[in-house]
Amino acid sequence: MKTILVAGGAGYIGSHMVALLLERGYEVVVADNLSTGHWQAAKGAKLRVGDLRDSAFLDRLFTEFKIDGVINFAAFSLVGESVKNPLKYYDNNVGGSISMLKAMDRHGVDKIVFSSTAAVYGEPEKQPIEETDRTEPTNPYGETKLAIEKMLKWSDGAYDIRYVALRYFNAAGSNTEVGIGEDHSPESHLIPLVLKTALGQRSHIGIFGDDYPTPDGTCVRDYIHVRDLAEAHLLALEYLDKGGKSDAFNLGSGDGYSVKEIIDTARKITGKEIPAIVEPRRDGDPSVLIASNKKAGEILGWKPLRGLQTIIADAWNWHSNHPNGY
Ligand code: UFG
Repeated sequence: MKTILVAGGAGYIGSHMVALLLERGYEVVVADNLSTGHWQAAKGAKLRVGDLRDSAFLDRLFTEFKIDGVINFAAFSLVGESVKNPLKYYDNNVGGSISMLKAMDRHGVDKIVFSSTAAVYGEPEKQPIEETDRTEPTNPYGETKLAIEKMLKWSDGAYDIRYVALRYFNAAGSNTEVGIGEDHSPESHLIPLVLKTALGQRSHIGIFGDDYPTPDGTCVRDYIHVRDLAEAHLLALEYLDKGGKSDAFNLGSGDGYSVKEIIDTARKITGKEIPAIVEPRRDGDPSVLIASNKKAGEILGWKPLRGLQTIIADAWNWHSNHPNGY
């Protein structure tokens, strides 16, 4: 494997994948329509601007480069927006993946690593969540990701395209060496919002509910460093390259932290006050989401190395050096 196509490589997680692949000596081609991504984030890769739903664009790309494997990050990922505009999500997320699989089939590319999500589980049956647990998304975003996982499964049997689907829990952190990080507009994720509050860009951080059945009443999530996520994708590609069979894996740390714990840790790391105000619950938030990462450890040999302190310190490094993003 020499040349990897990273679809959505100008986005938050995709750009961290690009940085890791380049560091490890791969040639990296990025396909991104820049609708939510930033060209500056795909530094060092061969960036081709276009939409995955444009089959002529993909044909040009697979003809220009001899692609050995694909990693597909390209998707819309705002849960709330997906509830308001589900067809936008089906069109882009499912449509883009259909088009990508068809192009891979046309051009004889047989390995894909797909970015899935903990949202495929919906309201979990138990903690920590295992890959065999019930998948019943509670929003269209999670539904589109689950639909793509199923499409991948059937495509393996029909077109011999093997896949690994990686179900991310809460991605955070940055790459302080390369100088890339999280820059969403609008931003909805807890850690960047807490740090924007530390920078004085927001008056306070809202805590969405403090009456959940958790130790301090606020929601518990499993935060995973974006660099650890990228490492897992590389292991997944190598696994497929060695003939590994198609499968899905959780990517989380296995540890849970509450919203209040995140804010407290950020206060310590930034030295800022970070005013917080309890607000009503946000619709659709499960009280606890914690991954079992046993399967990724056993089969892919993945072990997350960066804990919450590093996640927040690296995110702070990015936000304090790039207060207005890219
Ligand atoms: N939260 C707040 N205040 C905020 C923002 C978030 O209290 O201003 C809370 C949320 O209620 C939640 C926690 O912080 O309890 C984390 O929220 P995020 O929005 O950062 O992340 P989510 O856990 O909601 O979402 C993540 C991924 C999604 C994925 C989802 C699966 O970012 O892509 O997990 O449930 F769909």
